[in-house]
Amino acid sequence: MPEIAYLNDSFMPLDKASVPINDRGYLFADGIYEVVVTRNQSLFLIHEHLERLQKSADAISLKLPKSLTEIKKIIETGIDKAGFFPECMVYIQVTRGVEPRRHNYTPDIKANLTMTFRPRPEYTPELFSRGVAIISVPEIRWSRCDIKSIALLPNVLMKQQAVDAGCQEALFVSQDGLLRECTTANIFFGKDNILYTPPADQHILNGITRSYILRQAAGHSLKCVEKECTYSEICGADEVFITSSTIDVMPVVKIDDTTINNGRPGPIGQTVRNFFQT
Ligand code: PDD
Repeated sequence: MPEIAYLNDSFMPLDKASVPINDRGYLFADGIYEVVVTRNQSLFLIHEHLERLQKSADAISLKLPKSLTEIKKIIETGIDKAGFFPECMVYIQVTRGVEPRRHNYTPDIKANLTMTFRPRPEYTPELFSRGVAIISVPEIRWSRCDIKSIALLPNVLMKQQAVDAGCQEALFVSQDGLLRECTTANIFFGKDNILYTPPADQHILNGITRSYILRQAAGHSLKCVEKECTYSEICGADEVFITSSTIDVMPVVKIDDTTINNGRPGPIGQTVRNFFQT
C-alpha cells in the first residue's frame, strides 16, 4: 500500500500532495497538529486527540474548517484506504490558510486541513528491554508549549543534538533546574514506588499518553504525583521513562552522565507499559 495524503477534500498518493507556497503553515508555522495511532487496528484515544486539536485551535483563534465528527470520519476513511498492516500513524495538520505573506491575517481566511497516513513506526522489543539514553538541554522554547503548534524549531534542533550524541531524546530543563518534557515525549520518574511527572501547565504539552497513564494508574493503585520536578531529583530516581503516542512508554536508563537503576528499565515502567496491552 502506498502512503497517502488527504488534501483539498480528497485522498491521493503522498508524493502527489503539495500545498501552496503562500500557506501560512509554510510561511510562519502558523498552525497546529495532532499525531494519532492505531492500536489493534483501531484508533487509540481518538476523542482525546480531537479534543486537544480543538483546544489548540481555540488557543490560536483558528476556526477548524470541519467539525470534529467530520475530521474523525476523514481519519477513518484514510485508514481504510491506506490499509496499513498492522498499525497506522495519522498526522493531522491545520494551518491558518493561504494568503500573500503578511504577518497579520484577514478575518475570513479559510483554514487548511491536511493529513498523512503512514505505517506506525516500529520499535524493536530489544529497545524497550534495554532502555534508552537521553540528554538534558536548556529550555529555549516559548511560554505556550501546551499548544500543539507546528512551530517546532527548538524541538528539531534539540532532537538532532540528542541523535548526534547517540541518544533517543533531549529533555528540556528550565534555567532554574525544573524538568519540562522531551522534544517529542513527556517524562516520568519513579522514586520509592511513587510515580512523578511535571504538571500539565503552559510549559509542556499535556500528552494524551501521559493523561492516559495518570488515569490508569489511579485505577491500579499506583500513586502518581504531578509536581514541579528538578533535574537533581530525576538523576536520583529509581527509574525513568518517556511517553508519547508513537512510543507508548520507553524506559530511560541514562541521563547525561548519570546511569539510572544500574542501566536497567524499572518495574513501574513495566507496569505502566502493561496499561497499553489492551
Ligand atoms: N509528539 N510533548 C511533546 C513536545 C510532543 O511533541 C509529544 C508528542 C508529547 C506526547 O504527546 P502524546 O502522548 O499526546 O503523543 C509530549 C508527537 C508524537 C509528534 O510530534 O510526533
